[in-house]
Amino acid sequence: METLPPTLNLLFRPSLESAPSFRSPRVSLLRRFFIGCRFVASAAGGFCAGKRREEGPSLEFSPSVFPISGAEDSLLSFINGKMKATDVAHSIWKIVIRGGDTVVDATCGNGYDTIALLKLVADDSRKGCVHGLDIQSSALENTSYLLRESVAEKQRELVKLHLLCHSRMEDILPKDAPVRLIAFNLGYLPAGDKAIITKPHSTLFALQAASRIIASGGLISIVIYIGHPGGREELEAILSFASSLPVEGWNCFKFETANRPTGPVLVFIFKKQ
Ligand SMILES: C[S@@+](CC[C@H](N)C(=O)[O-])C[C@H]1O[C@@H](n2cnc3c(N)ncnc32)[C@H](O)[C@@H]1O
Repeated sequence: METLPPTLNLLFRPSLESAPSFRSPRVSLLRRFFIGCRFVASAAGGFCAGKRREEGPSLEFSPSVFPISGAEDSLLSFINGKMKATDVAHSIWKIVIRGGDTVVDATCGNGYDTIALLKLVADDSRKGCVHGLDIQSSALENTSYLLRESVAEKQRELVKLHLLCHSRMEDILPKDAPVRLIAFNLGYLPAGDKAIITKPHSTLFALQAASRIIASGGLISIVIYIGHPGGREELEAILSFASSLPVEGWNCFKFETANRPTGPVLVFIFKKQ
């Protein structure tokens, strides 16, 4: 692991973890939406004279085909503007990641995502590993500082930081460890140089690399900011990549708020088991 000197150039973001839960007593609107989807999907299997046919294809959103079951409340909070995109992503990671996993933070920035990933992979087995990448040494310094400030040394040893473009992630990942999750939090380093920013071209290369590496049952998680120049082009490149993946092998989802035209967009790419 690279050891990096501490830096004072650290930004602390307010947490919206305390966003209200939408579970009880109200029935989750999103859950109703999912039930509605199941109805529509089943209907595609065939209704006959108002009565469902006994035979024919029927889509059920069991966890194996609908892998974000359990995150409905977070997604509804995101749609309602009550939960930050990054916190929603973290809540989906909790469903996917197990202790002892190998995961990648493809854009370390200030290290908040790295820490969230570390907490999910760290367990008694001590096999878990977070590979953190960034092209800016100041970002890796910030991440290193945050790790030192908030995590015990034993856990910190599970993080390996790499000054590297994420399009080259295959260069540093061990071939023998299946990668459960690869996280992208795109854009520029908050409070850093806004000219150093993720670009559609290299993001696309990185997603192609991620799709080669990610294990079956794993997730490529992407938070995209479209309010800055180039952000919308980056989103288009990502959507074009996600929609090119064959449905037999991949589940791809996009979440955005229709009336927040410059709000962040979440894209989740699941590799089927
Ligand atoms: C929005 S910030 C990430 C925030 C971070 N995940 C956190 O929790 O604080 C985006 C980061 O991507 C980095 N970046 C830009 N282009 C990159 C590339 N090609 N490869 C890896 N990192 C890149 C930037 O330097 C910046 O630190």
